[in-house]
Amino acid sequence: MTTEQPLSEVLDQILIDEETLQARIAELGAQISRDYAGVNNLLLACVLKGGVVFLTDLMRHITVPHTIDFLAVSSYGQNIRETTGIVRIDMDLRCNIDGLNVLIVEDIIDSGTTLAYIRRMLQARNPASIKICTLLSKPSRRIVNVDIDYIGFDIPNKFVFGYGLDLDELYRNLPYIGVARPGASAEVS
Ligand code: IMP
Ligand code: MG
Repeated sequence: MTTEQPLSEVLDQILIDEETLQARIAELGAQISRDYAGVNNLLLACVLKGGVVFLTDLMRHITVPHTIDFLAVSSYGQNIRETTGIVRIDMDLRCNIDGLNVLIVEDIIDSGTTLAYIRRMLQARNPASIKICTLLSKPSRRIVNVDIDYIGFDIPNKFVFGYGLDLDELYRNLPYIGVARPGASAEVS
């Protein structure tokens, strides 16, 4: 069983509150709806697990017809706050994306390693187009350059959690983006 630390032990500050998040997500949805107007084969490809909360809110602001699918990747180990640089596909998309307009939906782009890898992998499958939508981006951390089409918020180089993003797999249910206290660990040890 997991015993979660009280939030006061791990949360340094709220970086983006719920209202600000939701307002920006509505804007992104409207912009995506304008950009894909008339398109009838849009696929939202959500990167699990972190992207799932963002996806479910975002898709309700997208007015063009679309389908959704999921893939899961990992580049982090438990308790490691830095990318290993090695990306592993834990679960692939179920659908064939040949000829589809694919919009990758991701929680955060940090070094860029994960997204560059996913884009390259999906590009080889002959989609009509690929674009990237990320809720958060840490531009100062970029190692691999990736073109991002939609960014919710640029954020500073701090470890954040909540709204789909985890701290040691916990706290994904928070409705806001919080900054972790330096050295914070989610489980009571
Ligand atoms: P990248 O490959 O370095 O761009 O890392 C991307 C992945 O690392 C994201 O999809 C997240 O899962 C994770 N990640 C990066 N920064 C954070 C953070 O501040 N909080 C939680 N997860 C993060
Ligand atoms: Mg992620």
